[in-house]
Amino acid sequence: MQIAGDKSLDKLRVLITREQIANKVAEMGARITADFAGQSLMLIGVLKGATIFLADLARQIKLDVTFDFIAVSSYGNARQQSGEVRLMKDVDQSVEGKNIILVEDILDTGLTLTYLKNMLQAHQPRALKIAALLDKVSRRTEPIYGDYVGFEIPDEFVVGYGLDFAERYRNLPDVCVLESDSETR
Ligand code: IMP
Ligand code: MG
Repeated sequence: MQIAGDKSLDKLRVLITREQIANKVAEMGARITADFAGQSLMLIGVLKGATIFLADLARQIKLDVTFDFIAVSSYGNARQQSGEVRLMKDVDQSVEGKNIILVEDILDTGLTLTYLKNMLQAHQPRALKIAALLDKVSRRTEPIYGDYVGFEIPDEFVVGYGLDFAERYRNLPDVCVLESDSETR
């Protein structure tokens, strides 16, 4: 698939199909439903990348579920993480005493989720778990793991199913590797 951008032609290669994603998200939802049987759950999505995953995952959890969203500083228009995480939007509801699942598109270095986990833990939730659709295990610099992980992927830059490059491609139904001829971006 090729999509013409403003200055470049980005090449997209499908890495994980929409069918594979749907099956995996259903499995993850079933596991979460079993793990929290009889309890209620608050999903906290990390904006904006986790929105599509959260929407699908929430519908596979057969429990009393509420949502909230949190936003942190992101890659911006670069592919490299700055190493610094800043909170741009906090949760609207209190997390104290609640079962929380932090929902993220991808675990990369682990800096973002380490920061968010520490921040939320300070507010004394009853349980705090991490659900990540993708995991780039080889990139991890922080000692953090996902409790519910969809797919381990190689160290390649991916877009689609919520993940972006400079805000584009979030709407692709499949997870695709973004391959570019240019090394300068
Ligand atoms: P971490 O803090 O390094 O774990 O980075 C997590 C964040 O980096 C994710 O929420 C994504 O926004 C972004 N990210 C990491 N890898 C990719 C990728 O391959 N494509 C798009 N965004 C990515
Ligand atoms: Mg993100």
